[in-house]
Amino acid sequence: MSTDKKITLGLFGFGVVGQGIYNIIQQNPSLNIQIKKIAIKNIDKQRIAPHELFTNNGNDILFDDEIDIIAEAIDDAEVAFSAVSTALQNKKPVVSANKKMIATNLSALVDLQKKHNTSLLYEASVCASIPIVRVLDTYYSGNLLSSLQAIVNGSTNYILTKMFEEKLSFNNALKQAQELGYAESNPKLDVNGYDALYKLTELLTHTFGVVAKPENILFSGIQNINDADAAFAKQNEKTIKLIAKIKKQDNGKITAFVLPHFVSTTTMLANVKDANNAVLLGNSYGEFEFLYGKGAGSYPTALAIINDVFAIQKKYNYNYDSQEGLELDYNETIKAYIRFEGNINKVEKYFESIDKKFISEQYNYVIGKIKLNQFVKTDWWQQEGISLIMDE
Ligand SMILES: NC(=O)c1ccc[n+]([C@@H]2O[C@H](COP(=O)([O-])OP(=O)(O)OC[C@H]3O[C@@H](n4cnc5c(N)ncnc54)[C@H](OP(=O)(O)O)[C@@H]3O)[C@@H](O)[C@H]2O)c1
Repeated sequence: MSTDKKITLGLFGFGVVGQGIYNIIQQNPSLNIQIKKIAIKNIDKQRIAPHELFTNNGNDILFDDEIDIIAEAIDDAEVAFSAVSTALQNKKPVVSANKKMIATNLSALVDLQKKHNTSLLYEASVCASIPIVRVLDTYYSGNLLSSLQAIVNGSTNYILTKMFEEKLSFNNALKQAQELGYAESNPKLDVNGYDALYKLTELLTHTFGVVAKPENILFSGIQNINDADAAFAKQNEKTIKLIAKIKKQDNGKITAFVLPHFVSTTTMLANVKDANNAVLLGNSYGEFEFLYGKGAGSYPTALAIINDVFAIQKKYNYNYDSQEGLELDYNETIKAYIRFEGNINKVEKYFESIDKKFISEQYNYVIGKIKLNQFVKTDWWQQEGISLIMDE
């Protein structure tokens, strides 16, 4: 494929992202991209594009030799994986926005790309408009990167912002996020932390070369956060953010998790509002870089897809540099706040040391030092009425 040739695209999905891709291509003929076919689920749905473009048979795209690149933006990870693996086996490059499909099949997808010498790019699936995968893949290729802290889920960040700044209830803030197209069709994917977990899994591969299964990574969403936690944050000049964190420890092992954090209101991450995303990268000399942009929505995501389409045309593929011997480890001791109801002994026993205890008729909390392993071994902290927030 030469760079000045027209690109013929096959598109899977015509929802928030798929329509964004279609509109951008229609509005910018100079891109020289033609969409030949669009695979969707429901052929009878009213569409903004000509009926003859649509098919409910993905094979019409997968086995069409005139299609150069496939852009995948459907909300069914299993169907997506089947289509993407068929495409890669046929040496057809793919661009995808589907973090669940990628994170849960990363090892197989890396193997397929190597075996069939073709490319899968997925910038849109991580932080939409922030080209973090490309930056990690091409710029931080040495081993001087030491940490990554990121707000990767636009809809939970939107909900937390509205709860803190406009005092909206959790449910009203979630409803707004859905109306604006920020939230997944199944809101549990965002609110309970799955979306951020999938993105962290992808980032783990591109920071330190660790290809982990999402089920082996510690995570939680914002489902148990309530007004008492928000009040505590405000009293202490902090806000609450759902943070995906990756850290290389002194012993070379890697800690990675997605958990709510208290963040001082003066920090850059605290000032990432609404559906925006941000990534703070730290290196071994104590320096930081900060990347910021829209993390969800039709055009930010569609633009990332289109940028990846051009990257494929220029023969770009990810390096998948792995650093020998790195593995996940949860032996680190961190500072945590846990709010709960009932007997304090049921929570206190997990802490190595306690800095502060608060007991009232409505709820209690404990702040202290605790090993991350205490959250990995059992799910005591995930029960209803218990809220865990990192306080680092
Ligand atoms: N929305 C965002 O801001 C955003 C940001 C980054 C990444 N993503 C990812 O992008 C993907 C698409 O998200 P979206 O928000 O565009 O979803 P969406 O609005 O719910 O649209 C989903 C699309 O997938 C199609 N689809 C579902 N099952 C299918 C199947 N078996 N075969 C063919 N097509 C099928 C649907 O077809 P019908 O039209 O016939 O129902 C629909 O067009 C997801 O993986 C999501 O995680 C979304």
